[in-house]
Amino acid sequence: MQHKVTVVGAGNVGATTAQRIAEHELADVVMVDVAADLAAGKALDMMEAAPVLGFNATIEGGGDYAPTAGSDVVVVTAGLARKPGMSRDDLVSKNTEIIREVVARVVERSPETILIMVTNPLDAMCEIARRVSGFPRQRVFGMAGVLDAARMRYFIAAELKVSVEDVDAFVLGGHGDTMVPLPRYATVNGIPLPQLLPADRIEAINQRTRNGGIEIVNYYKQGSAYYAPSAAVYDMVAAILHDKKKILPCAVYLEGEYGLHGLFVGVPVKLGRRGVEQVIELELTPEEKAALDQSAEAVRGLVASLPAS
Ligand SMILES: NC(=O)c1ccc[n+]([C@@H]2O[C@H](COP(=O)([O-])OP(=O)(O)OC[C@H]3O[C@@H](n4cnc5c(N)ncnc54)[C@H](O)[C@@H]3O)[C@@H](O)[C@H]2O)c1
Repeated sequence: MQHKVTVVGAGNVGATTAQRIAEHELADVVMVDVAADLAAGKALDMMEAAPVLGFNATIEGGGDYAPTAGSDVVVVTAGLARKPGMSRDDLVSKNTEIIREVVARVVERSPETILIMVTNPLDAMCEIARRVSGFPRQRVFGMAGVLDAARMRYFIAAELKVSVEDVDAFVLGGHGDTMVPLPRYATVNGIPLPQLLPADRIEAINQRTRNGGIEIVNYYKQGSAYYAPSAAVYDMVAAILHDKKKILPCAVYLEGEYGLHGLFVGVPVKLGRRGVEQVIELELTPEEKAALDQSAEAVRGLVASLPAS
């Protein structure tokens, strides 16, 4: 393949992401995990599917970072996932340690790469990655909004019994309970959602979107969602490697946009070969802006509580 993508963490999200990237022949994939045999075994298992499915990308796995050198994109999924009763923020101290180590090791070998963070609490882990890598915001950002919006899109399609392909939606803010679904910007083949559903049904969809992660955690008991999260990461990696200039909601370091400074918040961006090529500023109503500010405050509080390096 023309491109190389490293996925750190060969657990549920990491391995499924690697599988999607290889099966679509988007790039060759290197999976790294502290559980080296787990990464090696999953890589081999996936490669043994290649003759049946007919894909030519390679997947290798292990504990060594040397094969990651020169990666075009690095996806970081290493860390603990939630169990029932845990919030994303409960993961902060252990995952901070892991992210510091992992980011330093990948960046040493791929100083020009684009880092996509997945580990929770997402917005805080993005900030750790930014500090450790020293990367500009174009090359370090997080996956959350694509997943949250995909959930909202699915819930809208299911409620209206229409094709998911026709449904678009945006979710802004931090990747937590304070995320901000934006039904005003949701459309079904161009028709604004508020023209298709009464306010109480829309609010129920907003609430289910906010609880989308915990709904899956409660089913799984062990571990959290990974099919939809890995699809969301795949969408971002494809937008970058194919230079699609797709407008997607991502956790990006804001420098004044939306009146917010120096913190990662989910907003629409243009994704292309250089990473985040533009931050898109939507016009918000006073209520939407207040909800975004509240969400940003929650991220700011979490970042302030991060253990000192
Ligand atoms: N941003 C999002 O929208 C989103 C969605 C789903 C999951 N997540 C987060 O992604 C992370 C991974 O979720 P998962 O379901 O794949 O978890 P998982 O437990 O299945 O996999 C995590 C993997 O990380 C590995 N790991 C731990 N420490 C490491 C280190 N120092 N170096 C390399 N690898 C290490 C573990 O061995 C494990 O294989 C979690 O923090 C989860 O909360 C985020």
